[in-house]
Amino acid sequence: MKEIIEEIDIVVEEEKDSNELLEIKNLSVQFDTDSGVVSAVNNLSLKIGKGETLGFVGETGAGKTTTALSIMKLIESPPGKLVSGEIFLDGENLFKIKEKDMFNIRGNKVSMIFQDPMTSLNPLMTVGDQIKEAIEIHQKLSREEIEEKTEEMLNLVGIRKERVNDYPHQFSGGMKQRVVIAMALACNPELIIADEPTTALDVTIQAQVLELMKELKDKYNTSMILITHDLGVVAETCDKVAVIYAGTIIENANVKDLYTKPLHPYTLGLFNSIPSLDEDVSRLMVIPGNPPDPSNLPKGCKFHPRCTKKLKICETEFPKNVEVSPGHFVCCHLFDEEVQEEDK
Ligand SMILES: Nc1ncnc2c1ncn2[C@@H]1O[C@H](COP(=O)(O)OP(=O)(O)O)[C@@H](O)[C@H]1O
Ligand SMILES: [Mg+2]
Repeated sequence: MKEIIEEIDIVVEEEKDSNELLEIKNLSVQFDTDSGVVSAVNNLSLKIGKGETLGFVGETGAGKTTTALSIMKLIESPPGKLVSGEIFLDGENLFKIKEKDMFNIRGNKVSMIFQDPMTSLNPLMTVGDQIKEAIEIHQKLSREEIEEKTEEMLNLVGIRKERVNDYPHQFSGGMKQRVVIAMALACNPELIIADEPTTALDVTIQAQVLELMKELKDKYNTSMILITHDLGVVAETCDKVAVIYAGTIIENANVKDLYTKPLHPYTLGLFNSIPSLDEDVSRLMVIPGNPPDPSNLPKGCKFHPRCTKKLKICETEFPKNVEVSPGHFVCCHLFDEEVQEEDK
């Protein structure tokens, strides 16, 4: 009987996961630094479906880039150290595969776009050659096919083909980021991780680049993780949102639910700190206190020293991740029915 039950469990598991592309399970990453061990990512879990765009939101130092680099297996070690966790891409455990196979996955299945386009661009190569190289590394195509594909990619991101022999410095910031997007898309990856891709750009250019990314994503049904500290950008671009604080996801929901019914006191604080155009800036509410020191994180809920709704239990126990409505998760004692009423 036990075996039958186990078999049923396996079948259910497979069915449930058919639309899933990425799953991060209990990821913890630390860095050894002169001032001690920095806990950058703490027991972080996350799922992304095929074709889905997830906004990954949090303050500077919250662990967004470290999470992204862990998916790419690009954490430098030392000083970095994977303490625990697993990452599955299309069912494959990335932490169990060889570097040679990971090299093929990067670019081919997952591409990353960084905040500064010059992280990805070589100043000494023409943009055309760089796109060609991105195609060549991963796809076996003839010379002509590569030329063709390069033109197609430039066209896709709105760069005239006459500019194929120009160097990065001949492009503006927004245009450089378009070249990076073309390189990232060159091998039709299943997942794009964009780490604050527009933060370094002017506001109008930001909107254009985001619009372009959205169009391309819809066209190819690519999944995307859009890392940002801008909730406005998430509302425009994403299906789901994960709010990260001190290396842990503290609230996770679809965009509509999170924007109409934010629950975690930290998420509420983030919304209150968005400047609105008709508001006097001096009236802005800012979340009191500072982000925690990741080399000396508080016990219990990592947000409790800044939280206005703190309970006694928050000082000692890390909260459970509670599903308050279908797909809307919040990691906060206030929403845990098992936490004693008298405590609230
Ligand atoms: N290579 C590194 N060496 C030491 N500490 C690091 C390194 N990379 C990141 N950290 C630390 O890890 C924490 C999380 O950083 P990061 O993932 O870059 O956050 P975010 O992208 O959300 O701003 C920060 O405290 C940061 O200082
Ligand atoms: Mg970052």
